[in-house]
Amino acid sequence: MYPDSQSRSSQLYARAKHSLPGGNTRTTVFMKPYPIYAASGAGCRVVDVDGVSRIDCINNFTALIHGHGQPEVVAAACAQIARGTSFGMPTEAEIELAELLCARVASIEAVRFTNSGTEAVMMAIKAARAFTGKRKIAKVEGAYHGSYDYAETSLDATPANWGEGSPLSVPYAQGTPQGVLDDVVVLPFNDIEATEALLRTHAASLAGVLVDPVPNRVGLIPASEAYLAALRRLTTELGMLLIIDEVITLRLASGGAQSRYGVVPDLTTVGKIMGGGFPVGAVGGRAEVMAVFDPSTGRPAVPHGGTFSANPVTMAAGLTAMRLLDEAAHARLNAQGDRLRDMIRAAFANAGLPGQATGVGSLIKVHFHARPIRDYRSAFPTAEEQGLLSRLVLELLNRGVITASYGLIALSSAMDDADIATIGAAFDDALRAIAASAS
Ligand SMILES: Cc1ncc(COP(=O)(O)O)c(C=O)c1O
Repeated sequence: MYPDSQSRSSQLYARAKHSLPGGNTRTTVFMKPYPIYAASGAGCRVVDVDGVSRIDCINNFTALIHGHGQPEVVAAACAQIARGTSFGMPTEAEIELAELLCARVASIEAVRFTNSGTEAVMMAIKAARAFTGKRKIAKVEGAYHGSYDYAETSLDATPANWGEGSPLSVPYAQGTPQGVLDDVVVLPFNDIEATEALLRTHAASLAGVLVDPVPNRVGLIPASEAYLAALRRLTTELGMLLIIDEVITLRLASGGAQSRYGVVPDLTTVGKIMGGGFPVGAVGGRAEVMAVFDPSTGRPAVPHGGTFSANPVTMAAGLTAMRLLDEAAHARLNAQGDRLRDMIRAAFANAGLPGQATGVGSLIKVHFHARPIRDYRSAFPTAEEQGLLSRLVLELLNRGVITASYGLIALSSAMDDADIATIGAAFDDALRAIAASAS
């Protein structure tokens, strides 16, 4: 049972506190009173350092689309490691992975690799500035795009600081320069009228609009097709670039979420699943825009290096993982997501608790309220709802299911129907236990 002060995880955490701030090196995996330390993973299961095996519904925050230790991905990575882990030279593998992305995502004509989604978003923003000669960026309130200062503006805005009417630019990290906040226009998700007014007001200085089509922190509800179509129309008319962040949503279709919702951006950022479990990111898009990175005719408009960018281990593992993710694998994952969403909805009803499961395909998010969700503000949980979510995460953990602290679930192709049923049953049991203790 978690927590257990005698566990090896607890001991490791006590040790970690001496060399890592708060014992932590990655805020997203922090847990009180201590995080559970992983020992190994195989398929859809992770075994912790105390020998407890659980079904992994986080999959390293959506990155491990095939679960842990997929044999072909492991073989490709190991073979490349034996040949060399990184070079001060390009390798053929980067061409192959770039070709795969160009073939699958219709709007991508050229690709630039990075080491993370954060860097991919940063390079997309820099490209938009260089291409348009303008400096501001617009992003959706509450949406997560990694830790570049501009992209994280208003990530955790609250009713106390988000402002009446048009969303204010709220700093995420203390010390964020005012100049950064002044250069970010914060948009209300799915509100075409208000978004249009903001884009028109700032048109002369706006380089681009950054949008995740199914933003996790905005409630994991999709942008309406009308909203995406409006963004496309307005960015074209007003001389800005449309940047679609598919760092998470590339797992929803081989052409990305943009192919599901019929929007054609200028730039797309990807990452996570594309690295086969290794650090990765990429920005891709229209050749004319991507030319800002082109060094072949002199100094590029946006010079970009990166010691480990396009390293061959990531490229080899990523290529194998992406090839395994064919149309049949996508269809199966999406169907399993639909099934589990239905099971979670039924579990809320069985327990007599208000709640809902949002998301698309293999991405699911749990909410302890039944309010219609349209944007960050309507998804925003009360303190009581947040408390219930934390309790659910704990109840699931002690029933052998790992989910993210903020209620996110990302399935893997390593799960079969029996695993989905096991996860659904754990939800049913956990929610009944919560209802029983509340009554
Ligand atoms: C939509 C989105 N964009 C960007 C990022 C940043 O990616 P990374 O964690 O690889 O820096 C994330 C990470 O979760 C993300 O969800």
